[in-house]
Amino acid sequence: MHETAMHETAHTEFPSDFLTIESLTPAGLRRILDRAGALKAGDEDARLTDMTVGLLFEKPSTRTRTSFEAGVTQLGAHPTFLGPDEIHLGHGEPVKDTARALSQYVDLLVARLNDHDDLVELANYADVPVVNALTDQAHPCQALADLLTLREITDDDTTVTWVGDGNNVARSLVVGCALAGVDLRLATPPGYGVDDDALATAADLGGAPTLFDSPTAAVEGAEAVYTDVWISMGEANQRAEKLPAFEGYQVNEELLADTDAAVMHCLPANRGEEVTDAVLEGDRSVVWQQAGNRMPTQQALLLELLGR
Ligand code: CP
Ligand code: NVA
Repeated sequence: MHETAMHETAHTEFPSDFLTIESLTPAGLRRILDRAGALKAGDEDARLTDMTVGLLFEKPSTRTRTSFEAGVTQLGAHPTFLGPDEIHLGHGEPVKDTARALSQYVDLLVARLNDHDDLVELANYADVPVVNALTDQAHPCQALADLLTLREITDDDTTVTWVGDGNNVARSLVVGCALAGVDLRLATPPGYGVDDDALATAADLGGAPTLFDSPTAAVEGAEAVYTDVWISMGEANQRAEKLPAFEGYQVNEELLADTDAAVMHCLPANRGEEVTDAVLEGDRSVVWQQAGNRMPTQQALLLELLGR
């Protein structure tokens, strides 16, 4: 069974798997962002030649799947996509059997699973590193791209405001900002806040977010305002119950009228719901930069996990 202990690279302690962003140290996170910057600048020549990376996806994906496939190919490795209709997982074969079989063919597994507990089981039974490509609880690869984007668009002492659902993306951002020393404010409706575990983890790292009742107060003076869909994948049956709570939480021109904050969104966006088309398409939107940063941050992550 795969050991989840840290291994040493030449530069810093690094985890064996990347299931949550809290598996990184602040130094490990800095190292990924530094390497991602070097990859973007063409200053990194490490390769994953002759390796195979398995991409196990139970849910749809545009950005994550493609940025991993293209990023892996650019590094000289071969991606193998395993969608929900192509393998036995989800049709009777347990996670632990999938993990032990796939580990013998691939050098690393990237997995987007419905249930975070399944991802933990996958990692426990896999003999190769496992990377979280989104679960119901966390989206740590998104947080890496978000933190690189913030590094690129702001100076030190950055303040970011999250407006909307305290979901998987928010949870990883909370801990990622704590690791990176970014001040985070949260404006989430009652009942839909970021869970206490993530808040406690951030507090332990010395970076507890500030909680706001009002989105308007929360965005004042912020360098960036970040939102995500109110109804995440797998939550369609909660739509009628959830939506009323989010009234007043839309990121629109009125909310941003007194700020010059950048607008962030992990995408896909539901225009007219959590964000307006005008804001998403406007000058302050950095959503395409965020999407672009998925590839170099994930490439840097894989190089570190595979000791290259
Ligand atoms: N942001 C993100 O993970 O997008 P996809 O669902 O398209 O991968
Ligand atoms: N919170 C969203 C993020 C999609 C990238 C979801 O889980 O559907």
